[in-house]
Amino acid sequence: LTADQAGVLQSAWSNIKNSEVDILYAVFKAYPDIQAKFPKFVGKDLDSIKGSADFALHATRIVSFITEVVNLSGSEANVPAIQTLVSELGNNHKSRGVSKAQFNEFRTAITEYASTHTSWGDNVAAVWNQALDNVYAIIFAKL
Ligand code: HEM
Repeated sequence: LTADQAGVLQSAWSNIKNSEVDILYAVFKAYPDIQAKFPKFVGKDLDSIKGSADFALHATRIVSFITEVVNLSGSEANVPAIQTLVSELGNNHKSRGVSKAQFNEFRTAITEYASTHTSWGDNVAAVWNQALDNVYAIIFAKL
């Protein structure tokens, strides 16, 4: 992403990055097969785990990872760091048996969340999609 695009992305992300629990809830709600991959949450009632410390911990890990990558975007100098982080994510999710289809579900759910919890326009949507295309190309090469 260019510095300008990264600014757009960071501004949109700043509106939702502290809503970790709500984001993970929205993902699990839309796609129970994703919830089912988590050993701590498989087979449990989503509304009853939502308030737990474990749920908050996992939500924070996932969302903080995204924040780290979003914060690195927009600078050519950070491209290798992004590549390393996102490749590792691809590798450790491959080990967990996560599929491309599930990553696409995750993308759909988090895009739906972002588009309804930030001021969303064509410009934001275009940058968001570009960013996701970039990281998903790295992840999918590992799955
Ligand atoms: C763990 C991020 C998509 C399943 C994690 C962790 C992070 C993370 C940061 C914890 C650190 C680690 O143990 O590596 C992400 C991001 C995603 C994504 C940024 C999308 C871009 C998915 C999807 C699934 C999934 C689609 C399942 C269908 C898991 C599981 C764990 C995990 C099962 C391990 C939980 C445990 O330790 O009990 N993810 N993830 N992730 N993720 Fe993801």
